[in-house]
Amino acid sequence: MRDRIVIIMTMITVLVACSPKNGEKITGKTKTDPFIEQLMAKMTLDEKLGQMTLYTTDWESTGPTIRSGYQDDIRLGRCGALFNSHTVEFTTLLQKIAMEESRLKIPLLFGYDVIHGYKTMFPIPLGEAASWDLAAIENSAYIMSKEAAASGLHWTFAPMVDITREPRWGRVMEGAGEDTYLGSRIAEARVRGIQGENFAKADRLLACVKHFAAYGAPIAGRDYNSVEISERVFRETYLPPYEAAIKAGAKTVMTSFNDYNGVPASGNKYLLTDILRNEWGFNGYVVTDYTSINEMVNHGVAKNQTDAGIMAVNAGVDMDMQSAAFQEKIKAGINDGRVKMEKIDASVRRILMLKKELGLFENPYRFSDKKRETTTIMAKENLDASKDMAKKSVVLLKNSGILPLAKKPMKILVAGPLADDKNNLIGAWSASGEGRHCVSLYEGLRQHPAAGNYSFEHIKGCEIEGNDQTQFSIILEKAKTSDIIILAIGEHKDMSGEAASKSVIRIPGVQEDLLKALKSTGKPIVTVIMNGRPLILNDVHSNSDALLEAWWLGTQSGNALADIIYGDYNPSGKLPISYPRNEGQIPIYYNHKNTGRPLNPNDKYTTKYLDVPNTPFYPFGFGLSYTTFTYGVPTVAKSTFSSQEPITVSIDVRNTGNFDGEEVVQLYIRDLVASVTRPVKELRGFQKVMIKKGETKKVTFTLTKKDFEIYNQNMEKVVEPGEFHVFVGGNSDTQNKVSVTLQ
Ligand code: GLC
Repeated sequence: MRDRIVIIMTMITVLVACSPKNGEKITGKTKTDPFIEQLMAKMTLDEKLGQMTLYTTDWESTGPTIRSGYQDDIRLGRCGALFNSHTVEFTTLLQKIAMEESRLKIPLLFGYDVIHGYKTMFPIPLGEAASWDLAAIENSAYIMSKEAAASGLHWTFAPMVDITREPRWGRVMEGAGEDTYLGSRIAEARVRGIQGENFAKADRLLACVKHFAAYGAPIAGRDYNSVEISERVFRETYLPPYEAAIKAGAKTVMTSFNDYNGVPASGNKYLLTDILRNEWGFNGYVVTDYTSINEMVNHGVAKNQTDAGIMAVNAGVDMDMQSAAFQEKIKAGINDGRVKMEKIDASVRRILMLKKELGLFENPYRFSDKKRETTTIMAKENLDASKDMAKKSVVLLKNSGILPLAKKPMKILVAGPLADDKNNLIGAWSASGEGRHCVSLYEGLRQHPAAGNYSFEHIKGCEIEGNDQTQFSIILEKAKTSDIIILAIGEHKDMSGEAASKSVIRIPGVQEDLLKALKSTGKPIVTVIMNGRPLILNDVHSNSDALLEAWWLGTQSGNALADIIYGDYNPSGKLPISYPRNEGQIPIYYNHKNTGRPLNPNDKYTTKYLDVPNTPFYPFGFGLSYTTFTYGVPTVAKSTFSSQEPITVSIDVRNTGNFDGEEVVQLYIRDLVASVTRPVKELRGFQKVMIKKGETKKVTFTLTKKDFEIYNQNMEKVVEPGEFHVFVGGNSDTQNKVSVTLQ
C-alpha cells in the first residue's frame, strides 16, 4: 500500500514539476519515467546533488586539480559520474563500489576525452577535417567509440566543434578549422559515429558537444582568454556547429571556459537556457568544463563558490565537473529559495534518464566485458581504418614532380627529429593511445612493399627544440651521397592542444636551418610537416621540392605516409584552415568581408598592408594531387529563381593528369547586395569524387533556401532577393563562377 501511495505522490510531483512555472516555457521534452520518479522520491538532497557531480579520478590529470577520495564520494553518493577512469578492470572496480556500498546503488557514468582515438589513434581532428571525407570521419568516430565502450566507458567529451580562426590557439588541433559549413557537417558526422542510431549499444558512447560556446574565438588566440564577438558573428560563424551536433542527436553539452557577452558560459542563461533549451529544444544534460563553475569567481561574476554554483544551476547547468560546487555549496541557495527544487529535480531527472537509457540500471556492468575489450582494442580493422583516415588527411602543399618517388634504385636519406619519432604521432588529447604502438615514418618507408627499390639511411640532424647544430656536418655528408632526402620536421605534440597557445607559429628550434643546409646540397627534398596547427611555411615551401602537411596522423602514420610517398595513394586532402604568411595577418580567413575600400594594389587608399599581401600563404580548401583537375564552367538551368525553388548547379571536372585521384569539389556563394555586409565567399557545398585519369565527371549540387539565409539588420533569419555568384572550384581562391538571381 505504501509503495502505491509513493507512486501516486510521485506522479503528482511529476505533473507539478512539469507544469510551466511562472510562465517558464517547457523546454525540450522533459521525459518522465515511473522508475526514475520512484527512485528520485527516495533520494536525499545530498544524493540528488551527487548525481549532478562529476569528478576525475587520480588516474590522469586533464585540468588544474585532481581529487582524492573519489571512492568515498561514490560510497556516500557524493558523485554520480567519474572521468579519466577507463579499462574494464578499473571501471568495474568503481562500479562495484556504487552498486554494493552506496545506499541507493545508482550506477556510475564513466566519461573520458576520447577525441581522435581511444587506443588505436586516428589523425588529430584538424587532420581528419582535411580529408573532407564525412564517411571516413564518421567511421573514425565510430571505431574510437567502439574501443572506448569496450573499455568500460559510456560517454566521451567529444566532438569538439569550436570553429576557430586562430592558429595561435593550441586547441585548433581539436576542431574542424575555420569554416562553419564544413565544421557543421563534420560535427554531424562525429555525433553519428559516436552515438550511432542508439547510443546504448555496446559499441557506442554518449556524445558531448563542446565547448559551448565560441571557445574558439579567444582574444589574441590565447587559451582561456575572453571572447568578444558580435551577436551576428556569434550566430553566423560560431554557433551553427553546436546546433548541427545537437540536431544530429548529441545527448550532452559541455560549457566553455570563456565568457560570452560578458557572462561566463557556465553561468550564461542566454546560452544554456534561452538558446539550448528554448530555441533548440535540447533535452539532454549540460556538464560544465573542468572547475569552470568555481572559475566564475576569477571571472568576477561571483563572490564565492556558493554564488557561482547558484548562478550555474539557475543558468541551466545540470552537472558540475570537478568544482564540487553543487555537492558542497549550493544547498544554502536551495534552503533560502535562490535555487528552486524543481531545477534540481529537472537536472537529476535528465541525468538518471540517460543512465536508464544506457541500460545501466538493468545491468551496470554491461560495458564491462573483458573478452570484448581484448578482441576490440587495436583490432586489425581498427588499424586499417586508422591508416585509411591518415592517408585521406594528408595535404600535398607542393610537388615539383619528385613525388611519387620513382620506382628505380635510389638511396634515400630519411632525416629530421620526427623521421623516426613515435611518441608525438598520437598528438594531443590522445586518450589511452601509446606512442609505442605507432609506425614511424622511417619504419613505414622501410617496411612498405615498394621499399625494395631503395636503400635507406637515417639521421635526426637536430632536435625539435634547441639550437644544437652539431649534427649538421654529418648529415650534409650523408646527403651528398644520397639521391633524395625525406625530411620530417615540425612541432612536439604538446605544442598544441589545451593551454598550448603560441604567439609565434613557426617550426621551432633549428629545424628550418637544417632544411636550408640540406637545400644547399642540391639534392631533392621531400619535407613532411608534423604539427597540430597551421604554421608559417613560406621558407619551408621554397626550400622543399615537395611538401606534405601530415598533422599528427596517429598509430598508422608511417604506413599511410609511405603509401603516399611511394604513390600507392594519391594525396587528396584540402586545408580546413587558412595558413598565414606571418602572425601579423591573424586572424585571416577566406570568408572575409569586402570592406568599403577593397584591395587595389594601385590605389594607396585601399585595404592592405605595407609589408605583406592580404592573401594567406595557403588558402582555405587548398591541396594538390599527383594529377591535375580541370574545371568546366558551373551551369544552372536558368538564371532567375524564386527563393522557394532549389537551384541545381552542375560542373564537369576532368582529370587531366597521369594518376587516378580524388578531388574535393567545393561550392561557394557570394551575396552581392544585401541589407547587411556579406562575405566575399561562403562554402555551401563540397563533394569528394574519385576521377580516373583522362576521365570527366559531372558533379551536381543542389542549393536550397537555407543556403541563402542571412540575419538581417534586426537579426531575423531571412532570404533576400538579389544577385548571387556561385563559385565551383578546387579551393576557396576559385573565380570560376556563374551568376544566379533570387526573386
Ligand atoms: C579540459 C578540457 C575539456 C575536457 C575536460 C575533461 O579542461 O577543456 O575539453 O573534456 O577538461 O578532461
